[in-house]
Amino acid sequence: MTTDSTKKTLAQLGVDSIEKVAILFDGLRTAFDQDAAQDIDSIDLGITRVRWLGRKSGVLSEIGENWLKPATKDIKPAVGQSLNALKAHIEERIQALTVAKEAAVEHAGAARDQIDLSLPGVERAIGTRHLIRQTFDELLRIFLSIGFSVVEGPEIETPYYNFEALNIPEHHPARDNMDTFYIEGARGGHLLRTHTSPMQIRTMEKQPPPVRIVVPGKVYRRDNPDATHGYMFHQIEGLAVDTDITFCDFKGSVEYFVREFFGPKTKTRLRPSYFPFTEPSAEVDASCHVCGGSGCRVCKFSGWIELFGAGMVDPAVYGFVNYDPGKLSGFAFGMGVDRLAMMKYGITELPLLFQNDVRFLRQFP
Ligand code: DAH
Repeated sequence: MTTDSTKKTLAQLGVDSIEKVAILFDGLRTAFDQDAAQDIDSIDLGITRVRWLGRKSGVLSEIGENWLKPATKDIKPAVGQSLNALKAHIEERIQALTVAKEAAVEHAGAARDQIDLSLPGVERAIGTRHLIRQTFDELLRIFLSIGFSVVEGPEIETPYYNFEALNIPEHHPARDNMDTFYIEGARGGHLLRTHTSPMQIRTMEKQPPPVRIVVPGKVYRRDNPDATHGYMFHQIEGLAVDTDITFCDFKGSVEYFVREFFGPKTKTRLRPSYFPFTEPSAEVDASCHVCGGSGCRVCKFSGWIELFGAGMVDPAVYGFVNYDPGKLSGFAFGMGVDRLAMMKYGITELPLLFQNDVRFLRQFP
């Protein structure tokens, strides 16, 4: 039985009795069953369906057109019934195959997903805190332990907060040391803060004394990038103001910090320095953590390493925030976090901290 026969009429095929009609349809049914007997994985049910049931040139359509329509009265009912029966058979079969095929696909998927408990697991790398973050956390832990609280502030500042209110008037040479990124055109607009000190002013403006804050954050300077400089780095500012804070409190707090951060044997030294917003000002040094103070290449054979700037708050600063300089006193400090991290972990190249090379980062899990 070929489907070619459906292109001819029954008269052309010589089918002129009910018996012959039955034989003819039996042949067609067998042809379909063979067609649908392919392997369930390889059979394309879409093609089978179109070949048999397709509206335009499907076998059943052709039968309707070429056999049924022109059939003579005596065999027409038989042709119609056989056609319906064949159609029902084909639809039923295709439906059953569709269900079977879906089940086979699902089964294959399940087999693929099966877990083999003897295989080694997939290791998913878990990120770690960046060394800068770790250092911030350690610094904040130390200052929180002696009563400081954490505040943060804007990286885009005005010259007033970044300079003026910190007792750095226009044309003061201290402004030149901090090559500033100005934005929105000229001076008088905004700038990227060159240090975290503006938060001293913002905090005292908002809150009456006593004040004990540390300010972690990013700062920006137009430095030429090299092994120890970048145009962005991190600082922690500290400020303590109260009615009875003395230089002794300042020194004690600084020494406590140095011992906590570098180890209990570390000694502290204060060297006279200058900052417009502190008086007296000091540079805080620690005994070299590499040689313990006897002198080595890291400390350039001095036994000391410069840590950060600090001092007693200059009374002029209180004037900008309506604090009474006659009653209040305090100390402040500002430390470079990247620098402290580099010293503590023996890192000689600042850019390593910002390149996010996992070979570097992995060393600080
Ligand atoms: N703001 C200074 C700087 O970035 C660091 C500093 C020095 C901050 C002394 C202070 C301080 O609060 O008292 O160079």
